[in-house]
Amino acid sequence: MEDLRNAIRDIPDFPKKGIVFKDITTLLSDAKSYHRMVDLIAHRYIGQKIDQIVGIEARGFILGAALAYKLGTGITLVRKPGKLPYKTIQKTYQLEYGTDSLEIHSDAFKGGDRVIVADDLLATGGTVAAVIEMVEDCGAQIVECAFLAELEFLKGREKLQSHKVFSLLKF
Ligand code: PRP
Ligand code: ADE
Repeated sequence: MEDLRNAIRDIPDFPKKGIVFKDITTLLSDAKSYHRMVDLIAHRYIGQKIDQIVGIEARGFILGAALAYKLGTGITLVRKPGKLPYKTIQKTYQLEYGTDSLEIHSDAFKGGDRVIVADDLLATGGTVAAVIEMVEDCGAQIVECAFLAELEFLKGREKLQSHKVFSLLKF
């Protein structure tokens, strides 16, 4: 696991002064690290009934799509505003470095679908908390939220309360 940690680099003062940005592009471009990340996370869910992966734009698509392929499910996209063409529901939330909004198609799930929410990184938890609300408003049941990495000092987990959270790497 140390190899995977070392494959992520820190970029100080990006996108704003005082933020240490976890740059996962170095992990993704290394075949061994990328495949290991996907295999280790997918392994948790093999044999469970999972109907959909929910991928969060943009970096969550990279993990989400690979997980969906491995688990034989589809992927539902949670996108930045104005990108999804059909009826959507939208939520606005706080990030470590600002405010943003996300949308999901209102007919994304069949009632009771069991889903995994996938993203690259859990920081303050604002993003995934907004996604959880939207996914549940659309009638799906969240089995777990899965991340490549978690910034523990930002205590994002505390925002997620009764939901299960898994992160492969903790910083
Ligand atoms: C990053 C990251 C998570 C979110 C985590 O996304 O990919 O989605 O921040 O932060 P939080 O836990 O404090 O909400 P970002 O909004 O930078 O978008 P991107 O994936 O499009 O780069
Ligand atoms: N999303 C929110 N905070 C982040 C950070 N420090 N590095 C990478 N992505 C992030």
